[in-house]
Amino acid sequence: MSVFHDKHILLGVTGSIAAYKAADLASKLTQSGALVDVILTAAGEKFVSPLTFQSVTGRRAYADQDLWGNEAHVIHVGFGKSADILIIAPCTADTMAKLAHGIADNLLTVTALAAQCPLLIAPAMDGGMFDHPATQENLARLKERGATIVGPTQGHLASGLSGVGRMVEPIEILGYIRLVLGRNGKLARRKVVVTAGGTQEPLDPVRVLTNHSSGKQGYALAEAALASGADVVLVTAPTALSAPVGARVVPAQSVQNMLDAVIEECRDADALVMAAAVADFRPADPAAGHGGGGAHRMPALEGADFAPMQMSREPRRERPIGPVAAPRRGGRGPLPGSLPRSRRGRAEPRSRGAAAQGGQP
Ligand SMILES: Cc1cc2nc3c(=O)[nH]c(=O)nc-3n(C[C@H](O)[C@H](O)[C@H](O)COP(=O)(O)O)c2cc1C
Repeated sequence: MSVFHDKHILLGVTGSIAAYKAADLASKLTQSGALVDVILTAAGEKFVSPLTFQSVTGRRAYADQDLWGNEAHVIHVGFGKSADILIIAPCTADTMAKLAHGIADNLLTVTALAAQCPLLIAPAMDGGMFDHPATQENLARLKERGATIVGPTQGHLASGLSGVGRMVEPIEILGYIRLVLGRNGKLARRKVVVTAGGTQEPLDPVRVLTNHSSGKQGYALAEAALASGADVVLVTAPTALSAPVGARVVPAQSVQNMLDAVIEECRDADALVMAAAVADFRPADPAAGHGGGGAHRMPALEGADFAPMQMSREPRRERPIGPVAAPRRGGRGPLPGSLPRSRRGRAEPRSRGAAAQGGQP
């Protein structure tokens, strides 16, 4: 089940041109199973209407006048108590200053002051505002109090200037929210190594022998481990995917690269999940230069004067790579389902190839 399932998420939207992206974030969170309540500041409402958020979350969106409505007290204190996380995206310099100094003059900032949940802020601001010492001081103060600050990034700004101030994209913010929600999960303080993607065996300096693995399975497993609080190392063959936020990525092109990386990373790992599709064979003698259609033409091509390619089978390993042989960090016991230490060295390897990986298209 997703870490977002049935989580009560408060999303504050402030007066930045990036406010339109908050609708996408609210939609993604809702699709992931979260219950999303949106609170707009008066300036935020100038950019996007509450109706937009109501439409994507299926729940009422709140604006500043709700602070003075009949349920005012219930709203901000109730929100503050029940929420699993408060996200402010985009967060203006103005709202950041209010949060840093405990100013509570609108529904969002009153709620933030009453909230007992983690706070995640995605600042967005234009030309020089982010670099201003006042903003930097406020940022440092909020960080010190434990807030998670995501971005901003460098790039084109609404004013036409270029600099640091762009709000991080919703899909990436989602990754950070996953980390915050999962940080006390079942795998907290555990190191989990995940392999992913289809390995590539060089035929010559420009061509490779590979397979159709997309890497999606391994990346999803890495994401799931992150959502349970694990420290994740993703040993990945080349893929077209973006690495999950929070994973440490170790690129590995060939089977040998992957094996070396896995052995190295498993020295202190608690678990190894092998989802990569590794080659069973590699060219015995990769060409030093580009063959130009000559030396390494594939045997399956008919009617040509080709030379069959010599392949070497990847050696079978008699022993498992041996994840989880390391002592538990923080004195915690073995992971459920892992082998007792005395048996780890004798466990049967799986049948295929060096790292016995189960690939997927
Ligand atoms: C077109 C426009 C774009 C703005 N964009 C930003 C922005 O990206 N970041 C920011 O800090 N302020 C921005 N502002 C200024 C804020 O809207 C203003 O400081 C406002 O008081 C913020 O109120 P709030 O923090 O309660 O939403 C912008 C203003 C306008 C008119």
